[in-house]
Amino acid sequence: MCGIVAAVAERNIVPLLIDGLRRLEYRGYDSAGIAFIDEANQLQRIRSAGKVQALADRIDSERPGHLGLAHTRWATHGGPTEHNAHPHTASERLALVHNGIIENEQAIRKQLIEHGATFTSETDTEAIVHLIDHLLAQGQSMLDCLVEVQQQLQGSYAIAVLDQQHPDTIWGLRKGSPLVVGVGVGEHFLASDAAALVPLTQQMMYLQEGDIVAIRRDQAALYDQQGKPIERTIQRSNLDPESSERGHYRHFMLKEIHEQPAVISATLDGCLNGTRILPSLPAELLSQVRAIHILACGTSYHAGLTAKYWIESLAGIPVSVEVASEFRNRRPAVPEHTLMLAISQSGETADTLAALELASELNYLATIGLCNVPESALTRACDHALMTRAGLEVGVASTKAFTTQLTVLLLFTAALAQAQDKPKSRIAEVLDALGQVAQQTREVLALEDQIEALAYRLADKQHALFLGRGAEYPIALEGALKLKEVSYIHAEGYAAGELKHGPLALVDESLPVVVTASSNELLKKLESNLREVQARGGQLIVFADRAVTLDSNDDMHVMHLPLNHSIASPIVQVVPLQLLAYHVGVIRGTDVDQPRNLAKSVTVE
Ligand code: G6P
Repeated sequence: MCGIVAAVAERNIVPLLIDGLRRLEYRGYDSAGIAFIDEANQLQRIRSAGKVQALADRIDSERPGHLGLAHTRWATHGGPTEHNAHPHTASERLALVHNGIIENEQAIRKQLIEHGATFTSETDTEAIVHLIDHLLAQGQSMLDCLVEVQQQLQGSYAIAVLDQQHPDTIWGLRKGSPLVVGVGVGEHFLASDAAALVPLTQQMMYLQEGDIVAIRRDQAALYDQQGKPIERTIQRSNLDPESSERGHYRHFMLKEIHEQPAVISATLDGCLNGTRILPSLPAELLSQVRAIHILACGTSYHAGLTAKYWIESLAGIPVSVEVASEFRNRRPAVPEHTLMLAISQSGETADTLAALELASELNYLATIGLCNVPESALTRACDHALMTRAGLEVGVASTKAFTTQLTVLLLFTAALAQAQDKPKSRIAEVLDALGQVAQQTREVLALEDQIEALAYRLADKQHALFLGRGAEYPIALEGALKLKEVSYIHAEGYAAGELKHGPLALVDESLPVVVTASSNELLKKLESNLREVQARGGQLIVFADRAVTLDSNDDMHVMHLPLNHSIASPIVQVVPLQLLAYHVGVIRGTDVDQPRNLAKSVTVE
C-alpha cells in the first residue's frame, strides 16, 4: 500500500520518478506527488488527487531535477485529496514520503504542535516530517534523527526524505514496510518494490528491518538502527523489465491470466530437482509433521483452503486454514508437531506477517512461507521459504499468483505424502496431473471468446452465486471474489451442499448461479444441487470437465472444458472464472486493474 520511488542522478530524474510511480501504481492509486530540487536549488513539490496520470499532466517538462522523491497513495489517515497527498514538507526544506501507518501519530502531533509546528494535512505522515524537522533544529544530523525517529515512532513504515540544504543525498528508512536500493552507474535509487527500478538497474540491495540508507550519485551508505555503518549484498533482480508493461493486452489482469501456462511451468521447474520435490524443505522436517495451520488473506486464503483438501486426503495430516486477521488476534491452541504455513503473494500483508510474529511465541514445529517475492518480509520471517515463479503481478485482483500458489501447494502435498511414507503410486499420480496443468490451462484460455459471450449474461445483474463441491468449493469462493473485485457485482461463493441452508432463498430467474463441475465422486450430489436451482428458475452457468454428461438447456448453459478430471483440476477450473470476472468488469466499464477502494499489498491492519 502506497509506493515510494526516489532518485539521485546526473540526468533529469523527474521523468524517471513518474515512470517509477506508474510501475508502483498497483500499490495505491488515489493520489500522487513528487518533490525535487531544481537547478536553482529550489525545492519543488507537485501533488494531485487521482491517478499518476493526473500528476504527470501537471509536471512542467522544462523544469528538470537531479534529486527527488515521489509517492502514489492509498489513503489511510485523511481522504484522498491533494493536501493529504505526499510528499509532506516542513520548514520549506524537508520533503518526505511514507508507506505504512504511524500508530502513535496523535501523541507526536500534539507534542510537535506544542513546539510550534503547523500541520496542513490529516495524514500520520506529516508527524514524521515535523518530527525530523524538530530534531534537526536541535542540531542533530539526519542520521541521528532517523535513529531517534525509530525510537519514537510506533507502527510500520518505510520513508524517503530529502533536505534542500543537503541537495546531494536522499535518506531512506525501513521498519515494517519494504524498501529497496537500486544501484546504478553514477546514480542511485530507492523504491518500495524492485519493479519500479528494473528499467533503470537490475542491481538491488534489499533493506532489512531498521536499516537506514543515504543514497548519493556515487554511493549508497547503509546504517543499522543504532546508526552504525553496515553492508548489504547487492543482488541481481531477475524481474523482467517488461513485466510491468501491459504489452498488447488491454489490461494487466488479462495479460496475467494469459501468462498462467508459462508461469505454472516455471514454478514446477523451480520446485523439482530430478526426483526431489521441493528440495529446499528437509524431508526429516516433513516426516515429523502431525498437523498444519495455514494462515493467509484474500486469494491466498483460498489457495490454503484448496490445499486442505489435498493434504488431508493424500498425506493424511489434519489441516486448519484461517484468515490471518482472525488468527493474529486470538490465542490459538497449537498441538505438538504442528507446522505453520503462511501464504502471501506479496510477502508484505500486515495481517499475515502479524500471524507469523504470533507464531514465534507459540509451539510450532517450524514456519514455512509461500511467497512470490524474494527477499520479502515473509520469506525472511519464516524458517523455510517456498517460492512461486509467477513474476510480477500488477493487476490488483490476483490470478497467476493464485494458480502458481496452488501448483506449489500440490507439490507440497506430494512432498509431505512422500515423507510420510504414503504409496508411491499416489505421488506419481499427483506429479503426472501437475505435468498436464499448463497445457490444459492453455486450452481453456483458447475458449476466451465463448467465456466473453457468457459474461454478457452476468453484466447487468446485481448478485451472483458461485457453487462448488470438494476441492472446487474454494474455487467457487475465488470465482465469487474475482467477480466482486473487478465488476462490483455482489457475489457469494458457497459449498453446493450448503445451498439448502440459506442461499436457495435467493434463487429466482434473476440470479445467475455459476458452478464448476468435475467428473468425480461428488458429481451426482452436485447434479442434485443444480436441479434444486433449476426448480426455482435460477440461471445456471456450468463449467464442466469433458467427462461430465450435462447438456445445456433453457435455464442451464454448460461449457465443457478440455480437461480430464484429476487431483489438479481446481488449478485449471479457476481459469474460466477469472476470464468471466474480467470480461464482466470490462463490459461494465470498471477499472479492472485498479478496482475502487482496493490495493494489491495490504500493508496495514
Ligand atoms: C489484497 C489483494 C488480493 C490478495 C490479498 C492478500 O487484498 O487485493 O489480491 O489476495 O491482498 O495478498 P497477499 O500478498 O498476502 O497474497
